[in-house]
Amino acid sequence: MRTFQQVSPLRTYLREIRREGKIIGLVPTMGALHEGHLSLFRRARNDCDLVIGTVFVNPTQFGPNEDLDAYPRNLPKDMQLAAQEHVDALFVPTVEEMYPNGFQTTVHAGSLSADLEGKHRPGHFDGVVTVVAKLFNIVQADRAYFGQKDYQQFLVIDQMARDLNMPLDVVMLPTVREASGLALSSRNAYLQPDEKEAALVLYRALEASREAVAAGERSSATLEALLRQTLLSCHGVKVDYAVVRHPDTLEPLESLEDTSAAALLAVRVGRTRLLDNTLLTPPGVQPPRPMGHRTT
Ligand code: PAJ
Repeated sequence: MRTFQQVSPLRTYLREIRREGKIIGLVPTMGALHEGHLSLFRRARNDCDLVIGTVFVNPTQFGPNEDLDAYPRNLPKDMQLAAQEHVDALFVPTVEEMYPNGFQTTVHAGSLSADLEGKHRPGHFDGVVTVVAKLFNIVQADRAYFGQKDYQQFLVIDQMARDLNMPLDVVMLPTVREASGLALSSRNAYLQPDEKEAALVLYRALEASREAVAAGERSSATLEALLRQTLLSCHGVKVDYAVVRHPDTLEPLESLEDTSAAALLAVRVGRTRLLDNTLLTPPGVQPPRPMGHRTT
């Protein structure tokens, strides 16, 4: 596996590859790689001729009181894991390489980013779409892979790619979970054993909402109450939001009578903030999007 810290040699390498007509897949990450990230590498490996992974803890998507300094970093392990998945090249830029002196132009995410994560983390999505736009421009991939785990992030990036006519497919892959149901996340490393136990309540709440829909419940308000009640039944869990929204627009929904929905959770367990979500599709209703592929 090749590693690049600078844009210029990476571009030289990619120019040759592109001349050969190879399909290039991009998997952006902030490192501390786990099975969730590896599932994206595997799909890219399967779909593309060349796989480029990126590891960059992007400072501009962290708020002033967030965990930028504490964010887990383990480059030697990340390189080993990426190599095991047959990633062709890893781009690991420094902050100075991505944001050199004089950097001043950013991308602004639109209304999809206003609520939920955007409301709780002001400026977060502008930081995400700016760095992702830079990575799209640097690599000029044919496809880029993201996880459903960060559902709103996927929608915001997909919207950016379409709004700005970026010539690539943005692909969403399912959330990888531990056997317990806990969604894998680099931030799970912060959890103490008792907190990890408490964190299982996110999956339990999502499962409860899925079961309620299967049993005929269609009211968003009732489903949101069920999510909140399940989360709050667990001592030490604080709810940032627990909502049922339209799966494409994230707008509030009255009922799931003739539409599918996304149940989206953000909770704090101790000092760790955790996200999870599920799609809710009543029988006979069209699922939100073909899972795993979306063409710009
Ligand atoms: P990071 O949190 O490292 O996640 C990188 C990618 O892995 C994202 O697309 C995320 O949704 C996906 N992912 C994380 N946990 C997952 C899981 N359990 N199952 C499946 N996929 C999972 O998201 C970011 O980094 C950054 O915001 C980034 C897009 C790299 C921009 O800086």
